[in-house]
Parts: sequence; structure tokens; C-alpha cells
Amino acid sequence: MSSPPKKASVDCGFDDLRPRIEEALKQACDFGSGCPANLGEAMTYALLAPGKRLRPALVLMAAECCGGSMEHAIPAAVAVEMIHAYSLIHDDLPAMDDDDLRRGRPTVHVKFDEATAILAGDGLLTQSFYHLSKEIQSPEKAIAAIHALSRAAGPARLVGGQADDLSAEKRLDPTRQAVQPVAGCHDETLDWTEILNDPRLAHLESIHRRKTGALFSVSLDLGAIMVDASKPQRDTLANYASSIGLAFQVVDDLLDYTAEASTLGKRTGKDADRGKLTYPGLLGLGGARQKAQELIASARCEADKFGSSGRRLRLLADFVLERAY
Ligand code: IPE
Ligand code: IPE
Ligand code: MG
Ligand code: MG
Ligand code: MG
Repeated sequence: MSSPPKKASVDCGFDDLRPRIEEALKQACDFGSGCPANLGEAMTYALLAPGKRLRPALVLMAAECCGGSMEHAIPAAVAVEMIHAYSLIHDDLPAMDDDDLRRGRPTVHVKFDEATAILAGDGLLTQSFYHLSKEIQSPEKAIAAIHALSRAAGPARLVGGQADDLSAEKRLDPTRQAVQPVAGCHDETLDWTEILNDPRLAHLESIHRRKTGALFSVSLDLGAIMVDASKPQRDTLANYASSIGLAFQVVDDLLDYTAEASTLGKRTGKDADRGKLTYPGLLGLGGARQKAQELIASARCEADKFGSSGRRLRLLADFVLERAY
């Protein structure tokens, strides 16, 4: 039975949904008789690895808080996690972040081999859309879901954000100095006007919104689509998603500096080594933390618009800020 590398004490708001998500993911690991055993194993290894399942949970939570049935949103929840799993396989490849640990286990290219990892990513990416087209009964909703997810995962969003993330690394620009995090957001020695006007900050926000935020946004929108949510409900979810998606990656950047690999299930200290453009690198640890806090406060305001139905969204927003893994 899969479980995340280490449980934090913070209530993420969806522990009760996890068994249903895991069951649906397991059922989705039938890739057809033409799929070579090794490829299917690699895809299953990636998809069923013990991730937090935040994105599929967001799909279900959106359906619920818009007054619909979470069960109707299960195919979309599976499809989003397939895209996420593919993006992690490729993100870890030697040509990208070159990581050997993911979700507490060897990365797919280490466990299998590089070609299999590339193909397992390709397989999960395409299977995601096949799954939506096969499992969603209403043709209109299937098209709407495929439209939204392919846009979010595509070249102007997730893939584009990943491309710009890599381009911003010092290894692609030998003149760029690796940034070091500076402690404390109120450090008197720092010129905050200069830091906040640094054009790299706007570029970094754009990278994070695309490489990570887009999948958070579409997760909530898919839940809404599946239950015919109203325009105001979708707008509120979009605002909530915009804040937690960016906050999630800001916290991911922070954890790379502050957490242990044994807790996080992936290597730490790599962003600075690679000269990545990150929030702690530009704002310092305190400034990045403050940015995440502000984003989470905005997300909570949006969740409040759902009244008591927004309970899970509020808990998840707090989890995104306080998580240790
Ligand atoms: C990791 O996402 C990739 C980023 C966008 C930073 P998660 O931290 O949600 O990964 P899992 O699914 O729990 O492994
Ligand atoms: C990855 O961002 C975002 C995607 C996979 C699209 P990171 O490279 O920071 O994610 P981790 O830290 O490896 O999980
Ligand atoms: Mg990366
Ligand atoms: Mg990475
Ligand atoms: Mg990271």
C-alpha cells in the first residue's frame, strides 16, 4: 500500500480521499496488451509511487465544494496524476534536473534505464488523454476536460515553464553567478526596492506559474467541469488555484534549501548547486517564506467564499504552507 515518505502532523484536508484515489490509480494501470511488460512496469512504478496526491485530491475537492459528486471527477483525478507522474519522470532525467531519488525511491531512469524513462513519460502523457476520452461518459465534458488539461500540460504552460526553468540555469549561461539564499526578509543590508524590481523576479514567477501552477489550476477546474459548476464557482476556484499553485512551488524551493532528503523523498540542496532561479535565491529564505504566507492568505480568502464547503480547501492551503514533505 502506497503512502507518502513521511507524514506531517498538519491535516492536509483529504486523508479520507486517499484510498479512493489510490484504488483508481491502480485500476488505471492496465495499458493494453500491446504495451511491453517493461514499459508498463516503469509507468506503474512512477504512477503508484507514494506521492502526496495533491492534484487528484484538488480535482475531487473542487467537485465537492461546487456541490457535485466526487465520484464523477475520478477519471479527471487519475488523468491529472498521470500528467504529474510523467512530468516528474522527465524532470528527473539526466538532461533535465538529473536526480536519482523521487518519492523516496530511485528515479525511473535509475531503476529502469533512460530510454525506458523517456518512453514511460510519453506513455503516461498520452494515456492521460486516452483515459479521459474513455472514462468520461458525456462527450461534451470529455472534450472540455481534454481541452483544459492539454492546454495546461502543453508548450505555453507546463512544458514551457520547464523549458524556461532550464534556460535560467547558470549552466546554460556561463556568465551567470549561482544565487545563494540570504537569511531574513527584513535584513537591513538588503536593498528591497532593488530586489523587488529585479526583472528576474517576474520571470521566476512566470516560470513557477507555468511549470507548477498550471497543473494546480487545471486540477480545480477539471473538478468544476465534471460537476457543471457555475461561472462564479469556477472563478473563485481559479483565484484560489492561482495562489496555491505559486505558493506550492515557492515552498518547494524553500524545502530544497531547508529540508532533509529522508523527509522529502528527493534530494535537497540541488537548486543552488545547479544555479536555479528560485525564490530563496532571489528573496532570501525569509522573503520567500513571506511570499508564500501572503499567497496562502489570499487562497484562504477565496476558500472562505465557499463557506463551510470550503473547509478542505482551507486545510489544503495551510498544508501547502506548512508541509514538511
Ligand atoms: C513535485 O510535486 C513537483 C513540483 C511541482 C515541485 P509534489 O511535491 O506534489 O510531488 P509528489 O506527487 O508528492 O511526489
Ligand atoms: C518541477 O519542479 C516541476 C515539474 C515537474 C513540472 P522542480 O524541479 O523544482 O521539482 P522537484 O523539486 O524536482 O520535485
Ligand atoms: Mg525541475
Ligand atoms: Mg526537479
Ligand atoms: Mg524543486
